[in-house]
Amino acid sequence: MSLELCPWGHLSEERLREFLTDPLNNQNAPDRKIVIDYLGKNFVKLGFLDVGCGTGHQYIALKQSLMSFDYCGVDKTEKMVEFARGRFPEAKFIQGDIHKLQFQDRSWPVVYVRHVLVHLPGYIGALTEAARVCSDCLIICLLKPLADKQQIKVVGEPPDQTKPSDFSEHYLNTYKREPFMGAIKNLGFDVVMDEMVEVGGYFESYELIIARRHSPDTARGQT
Ligand SMILES: C[S@@+](CC[C@H](N)C(=O)[O-])C[C@H]1O[C@@H](n2cnc3c(N)ncnc32)[C@H](O)[C@@H]1O
Repeated sequence: MSLELCPWGHLSEERLREFLTDPLNNQNAPDRKIVIDYLGKNFVKLGFLDVGCGTGHQYIALKQSLMSFDYCGVDKTEKMVEFARGRFPEAKFIQGDIHKLQFQDRSWPVVYVRHVLVHLPGYIGALTEAARVCSDCLIICLLKPLADKQQIKVVGEPPDQTKPSDFSEHYLNTYKREPFMGAIKNLGFDVVMDEMVEVGGYFESYELIIARRHSPDTARGQT
């Protein structure tokens, strides 16, 4: 299946402006607060790579935390990157694909991937690449918690890529717990937090996973 199936690039200006601005997803989302709290307790200065950064809500969350950080947001969708740059001209946002990140091995102490993996055809390539560039702390938030069975689900009909469409058709996968956790371990990480964050509504809960490298390198900003 095509990696282009998600119609991210077709969001209208209006949808882009309101993209994930609801309380369960914006800068004050409950899972983001847990992440900020964890980072505040474990890092003095952060090197933070936000993969699939969207319009930059995590950048605001970091700014609000008053932590000292070095941030880069990466997103495959040009429109998202342009919008984020317009919002935060002082920050670095670049276009890039989670399957082929333009960074050296272990070059970022914290790599954050929120609500991206369930929207891809699968997670192995993306997870492996996120882990490759991570020197210490890999943070993954899943819109659909891990489960007993894997379900690769496409919601609605595949969009016509030649026309702007509303944002209703996208992957909404559920991944099987055991192989997902096994992959994190095999990539050289130990899970230090695996929390169901109750959010209510349609999704009920997000799964937040924080994993640390078995042997972290001394890298930018790490305590
Ligand atoms: C649901 S949004 C989440 C945005 C952000 N992480 C947040 O939680 O606010 C998913 C984002 O992943 C981006 N994305 C989708 N496929 C991607 C890929 N292959 N590489 C990088 N980003 C991707 C989309 O453009 C979109 O901005």
